[in-house]
Amino acid sequence: TGTTVETDVVIVGSGPAGSSAALFLAELGVPTIMITKYRWTANTPRAHITNQRAMEIFRDLGIEEQVLADATPHHLVGDTVFCTSIAGEEIGRIRTWGTRPDREADYQLASPCLTVDIPQTYLEPILVRNATERGAQTRFSTEYLGHEQDDDGVTVQVRDRLTGHAYAIRAKYLIGADGARSQVAADLDLPYEGAMDIAGSMNITFKADISALVDHRPSVLYWVIQPGSNVGGIGTGLVRMVRPWDEWLIVWGYDIAEEPPVLDDAAATKIVRDLLGMPDLEPEITGYSLWGVNEMYATRLQRGRVFCAGDAVHRHPPSNGLGSNTSVQDSYNLAWKIAAVLRGQAAPSLLESYTEERAPVAERIVTRANTSAREFADIFEALGVVGLDGEAMAAAIEERKADTPAGAAKRAALVKAMETKNYEFNAHGVELGQFYESCAIIGDGTRPVQPPGKEDPDLFHAVSTSPGAHLPHAWVGDQTTRLAMMDLAPYHCWTLITGVAGSAWEQASTTVAAELGVPLEAVVIGPGRAVTDLYFDWAKLREVEESGALLVRPDKHIAWRVTNLPDDPAAALRDALTRLLGRA
Ligand code: FDA
Repeated sequence: TGTTVETDVVIVGSGPAGSSAALFLAELGVPTIMITKYRWTANTPRAHITNQRAMEIFRDLGIEEQVLADATPHHLVGDTVFCTSIAGEEIGRIRTWGTRPDREADYQLASPCLTVDIPQTYLEPILVRNATERGAQTRFSTEYLGHEQDDDGVTVQVRDRLTGHAYAIRAKYLIGADGARSQVAADLDLPYEGAMDIAGSMNITFKADISALVDHRPSVLYWVIQPGSNVGGIGTGLVRMVRPWDEWLIVWGYDIAEEPPVLDDAAATKIVRDLLGMPDLEPEITGYSLWGVNEMYATRLQRGRVFCAGDAVHRHPPSNGLGSNTSVQDSYNLAWKIAAVLRGQAAPSLLESYTEERAPVAERIVTRANTSAREFADIFEALGVVGLDGEAMAAAIEERKADTPAGAAKRAALVKAMETKNYEFNAHGVELGQFYESCAIIGDGTRPVQPPGKEDPDLFHAVSTSPGAHLPHAWVGDQTTRLAMMDLAPYHCWTLITGVAGSAWEQASTTVAAELGVPLEAVVIGPGRAVTDLYFDWAKLREVEESGALLVRPDKHIAWRVTNLPDDPAAALRDALTRLLGRA
């Protein structure tokens, strides 16, 4: 007692949101202390699908290779199976996470990275290690107790759980990345929509080498439709790969209106045997727990000097694989803004853009994930198993084989129902299409336009340079290097992108950067310049003239664009940047 430690930012939580926030702030040189309640990172595999935007962030931070080294690679994630059990009959498959050749083109054109699978048990240590190496202080076994904020900062009360010693940390800002039961969010009294615990679910982790049953149809997900699978849970039973092909996690539901089921080794073993269809299997059960499905998002993510990120502000089932990804992306949006305000480069009003930009994302992903879980009903309806259980259910599934009008109708209905699952497994627009409207964007009245034949904004990503959109991907470089467009715009600075006819922007950027004391680099794309447009793709994507410019924020969103070189580019740029930084 009596001790007070000082830092710039306190982060509560070392999950994907907290550990990535620590990494981003450390990368930007901001003094940071990350505290976390337990002695180490996640102790169960939890979130795993790691989408293109999250991988781009890891690429930006120079840890993409570390993540890939521990991940199950893209080519093994996508042959997703629906079956009556792993050893039993297959009902059908769907190519997922952009692995169907036509969709893979969309994914490859949109990003230098592809979706991979890395469980939290592998990802979090990478984030924590790199954050700590780059300067963050990490305090395990340290619990957040409460905070008080005033005009100058936040005093955070914490307790070392080993010694029982309570102490205070005085900081400029606090980030609550303390998960779905966030105490920081509760203390802030953040407003929420939706409800917690709308369905009952359980996770069972186990080891069993079942390569022979799966390695010819490699996937992260094997969905099981059998008696009991339409009760609670996340749509139907799930056997999820943790490590190919001998470590697994089962998700199985229960009726939340009833007493919670008793889960012990015997009960877990029975569920594993049933879903695998291997009654004699002796799996090594490594863990089990009950959890509730949530459908809840915050409509405000901050108050004053305190921000919440990750599951603290969006709580939803794992459907669409958005939990960990969105948590990392929240922190990526927030950290550079905090750094800019701490350095006096931006006014504190810039921080308001965090809620303006990320609250709509929270609503969108919570709604999408829960809708996806409910849409399994289409498959149950197609199979005619709604309301059925036991042998009646098995008979209804069997009927899809019959050479009868009912059998034919079932087969046709299945084709349609399976299409719906693209909204869970190939929702490229949801994964990538985050478009911001806020005080940190100078909109020009345009929005990304869906390409012809790809009108659905959930399934398809609309590439655009409209202010608020993410910088489009193209490959650029020269005879010795190949870079992604995002590589030109690193996290530690603002980047102005132009073409050869816009070379005057270089001097304008140097002038304005010096005047405002803001890190800003201009990149001219064209022959003989920093990089060339290797495949002539960028010329078709940039949506401005060669002499125009795109001003890209550290998080790769386009903040402002100009179609042509103005008479006084420095004045135009100065005006834009001062507005964006809240200094106008
Ligand atoms: P996260 O919950 O990961 O981290 C919270 C952090 O806060 C932890 O480090 C914790 O120690 C810390 N903390 C909490 N209270 C604290 C306090 N008072 N003081 C100090 N530290 C405190 N998703 C998915 O896609 N597929 C899945 O299969 C699963 N399965 C799953 C299982 C279980 C058991 C859970 C809890 C969650 C999942 N999830 C999941 C969800 C997924 O794990 C989730 O979306 C992300 O972990 C969210 O990341 P955050 O960093 O926001 O919170």
